[in-house]
Amino acid sequence: MRMVDIIAKKRDGETLATKEIEDFVRAYTADQIPDYQASAFAMAIYFQGMDEQESAALTKAMAASGDQLDLSRISGTKVDKHSTGGVGDKTTFILSPIVAAAGVPVAKLSGRGLGHTGGTIDKLEAFPGFKTELDEDTFIELVNKHKIAIAGQSGNLTPADKKLYALRDVTATVNAMPLIASSIMSKKIAAGSDAIVLDVKVGSGAFMTDLPAAKELAQTMVNIGNELGKRTVAVISDMDQPLGRMVGNTLEVKEVIDVLRGNGPEDIRRLSVRLAAHMLVLGGKAKDVEAGEALANDLIRDGSALNVFRDFIAHQGADPALVDEPEQLVKSDYSVTVKAPAAGYVSSINATDIGRAASMLGAGRMTKADTIDHAVGVEMKAKVGDWVKEGEALVDLHANRDDVEEVVNLVKESYQIGGSAPEERPLIFHEMI
Ligand code: URA
Repeated sequence: MRMVDIIAKKRDGETLATKEIEDFVRAYTADQIPDYQASAFAMAIYFQGMDEQESAALTKAMAASGDQLDLSRISGTKVDKHSTGGVGDKTTFILSPIVAAAGVPVAKLSGRGLGHTGGTIDKLEAFPGFKTELDEDTFIELVNKHKIAIAGQSGNLTPADKKLYALRDVTATVNAMPLIASSIMSKKIAAGSDAIVLDVKVGSGAFMTDLPAAKELAQTMVNIGNELGKRTVAVISDMDQPLGRMVGNTLEVKEVIDVLRGNGPEDIRRLSVRLAAHMLVLGGKAKDVEAGEALANDLIRDGSALNVFRDFIAHQGADPALVDEPEQLVKSDYSVTVKAPAAGYVSSINATDIGRAASMLGAGRMTKADTIDHAVGVEMKAKVGDWVKEGEALVDLHANRDDVEEVVNLVKESYQIGGSAPEERPLIFHEMI
């Protein structure tokens, strides 16, 4: 079929055959379809949507467009976790050693960050010498021996998605639910795990700012995963303020160590344990989520998760002593306190602005070519619901320059302070099991 006919079919609200979707993905990846036709096709999908089978076919074709990891040499059920992204989100580093300590293999491919703060790989590089470029054999050997390895994605993972995402970005078609869902899920499918836990964020710092949209995205991705034979569950969690108290690469790593030592902020600990619990159920180590939570908490309490984390740091080339002495990790030269302009309750914090503030200090990249400053970031001294006195610290900025007036102003604007205590938002809104 000619591309113009496929576009017309979708424009008119008809259902595409799997073969038509496969042909589009194959030809577009091979540069045989011009961007103007792919744009028209994306816009037709934006308006007409896709049913479950079409979305699954698109996901599968995009996953097959490049390298796919074969994890069959690792025994046991490989369970992956994906977050739709948020500020201060460091759950991967907490739940991975927990589930590995329980015997569920963690074979994780992760990316770098763009905007906001660094991604998983950037945060791991806060440990000097940590190797994220692993060849497939080394990666698999590490997981088989130690139950855990985290590596950077190969350049040729889902090239169809890379090309289509760049096009969607400039044709106002990013926000088409089947395109978002298939983009995310194609990368998860190509990464080769048997089951997937999705953490779909909702709120001011999330891709989805309202609950109905977050639920729709979660359901679409769960359907795609299950349709493609991967058991998939979703947790919809709050991203209306940063998660935990630290935003920025080394700062976040320190918070992770705190949580693995049995301390740390309640929100990040509770969410990490809940996500780990779902992974333990999917990995066959717990009979239900409550049993999974109990096991995850035990593995923190008895030090097993911290031991796995320390060994993981060592096996991938960094100094494990840093896990016991995180104060030796790189520090910034300056600390600037942003103070409350008036007394009152913190009624809201714009999470995206806090992420942007951390990025402006150097914790994230504005363009792919930027380098990350691992030492800098934002430490949240006051969170939503806290009472602050006039002049009390809202955040400490960890900076490597002292001219941070612009960042101070952005942080001030991101805090709303009012006379009454705000209504409490749940940490977890909904789960799809
Ligand atoms: N994240 C992705 O990977 N793809 C999208 O389309 C949107 C967010």
